[in-house]
Amino acid sequence: MQEIKKYVEENQQRFLDELFELLRIPSVSADPKYKDDVIKTAEFVAEKLKSAGADKVELCETAGYPIVYGEKIIDQSKPTVLVYGHYDVQPPDPLELWDTPPFEPTVRDGKIFARGACDDKGQFYMHVKAFELMQEKGLLGCNVKFMIEGEEEVGSENLGVFVENNKERLSADVVLISDTAMISLENPSLETGLRGLSYVEVEVTGPNRDLHSGVYGGAVANPATILAKMIASLHDENNHIAVPGFYDDVAELSDSERKQINEAPFELETYKEDLGIKEIWGEKGYTTLERTGIRPTLEVNGIWGGYIGEGAKTVLPSKANAKISMRLVPNQDSETITQLFKKHFESIAPDYVTVKVSPHHGGEPVVTPTDSVAYKAAAKAIAESFGKEPIPTRGGGSIPIVALFEKELGIKTVLMGFGLDSDNLHSPNEKYDIANYLKGIETIPLFYKYFNELS
Ligand code: BES
Ligand code: MN
Ligand code: MN
Repeated sequence: MQEIKKYVEENQQRFLDELFELLRIPSVSADPKYKDDVIKTAEFVAEKLKSAGADKVELCETAGYPIVYGEKIIDQSKPTVLVYGHYDVQPPDPLELWDTPPFEPTVRDGKIFARGACDDKGQFYMHVKAFELMQEKGLLGCNVKFMIEGEEEVGSENLGVFVENNKERLSADVVLISDTAMISLENPSLETGLRGLSYVEVEVTGPNRDLHSGVYGGAVANPATILAKMIASLHDENNHIAVPGFYDDVAELSDSERKQINEAPFELETYKEDLGIKEIWGEKGYTTLERTGIRPTLEVNGIWGGYIGEGAKTVLPSKANAKISMRLVPNQDSETITQLFKKHFESIAPDYVTVKVSPHHGGEPVVTPTDSVAYKAAAKAIAESFGKEPIPTRGGGSIPIVALFEKELGIKTVLMGFGLDSDNLHSPNEKYDIANYLKGIETIPLFYKYFNELS
């Protein structure tokens, strides 16, 4: 442990400089205008894996962005860790809300501000540096395989194909991912579940063209008004989701499981203050930790229609649209939920509009085991580097490929994330605390040590 700490201390400036270099490349997978930069990022990652000591480093071409693969097989009889991460990031918009530019990493108050600082460049890069450390210090006690993809933020569709076609190459005893959050450095935690996702886009059409709102308004249904009403009807007075059949497959937790979830430290006042809200909201009968961890949700991610430019234009729009996502929990199925939503949304459309529901990507929920050797190794590593046992928590986000690792490769995952919920993921001023970054690099080698010992 002393040896690890010393190496991190001596190399921390370089570890930061390299991460900054990575953060300066705008690898936005959703927007084709960043294509060259996304590829440049993949090349950067491959280069760093190579110089850290990985063998067989390769940019694996897909129908989309390349997957960076690299491995170090020290001994076939040792356990194998498959590290997964993503080098792509979310679009930085709205740019005007950033205090410093998204692709010029800036340190303020011990935190690195940049798009991707936490999600996921800062987090997967900890693994590259921890690997370097283990190589340099002769500490690597497991085989390791790296698979860092460039399309997580757009649904990982090509990774699914890659996994199916590379089962042999990807065989491992555990998948290790740092792409989630912990409660805090004082209260380390390990996420033990991820929610699934159904994502749809809806379009409501009224008249066959935009109309003068004075000439026609009041006599023709306004699709924006109708869409708003339809969306409002998707939650009932208890904030339950009003799509028939939506809850049919939801796994209800036992009282003791719910009790455990609610034992995690959570300060409602601090939560509200941090978000600038007077009151919280949510499904009746559940706490905030349950609402974000073990219950499904339905959210409007964007809604538009009509005139949204400068000044006032009087118009009755022909169309209104919304992007709607549903977070799913065990044992809901993404395809089933998408179909239930589509059927319901079409059925509530009044005669004066037509609606179109188009599905986007989806993903299945997962629960990761807490009684496995890998989980125990992660808990032991955290206990040693943080001086405190990690608390198991259920995360609200989604990493759809995790369910696929289980299904296609038969490998369970450990979610050893070092981010914080307050790191502004997908939002302006995304950040990652330097302390979390360095602590992560320190903890990962301990995971390898204990995974090898306990296996
Ligand atoms: N790293 C996040 C997921 C996450 C964040 C899990 C925080 C747990 C805590 C990941 O990059 C992500 O943003 N996933 C998307 C889904 C994907 C299909 C675009 C999400 O959760 O919205
Ligand atoms: Mn991520
Ligand atoms: Mn993300």
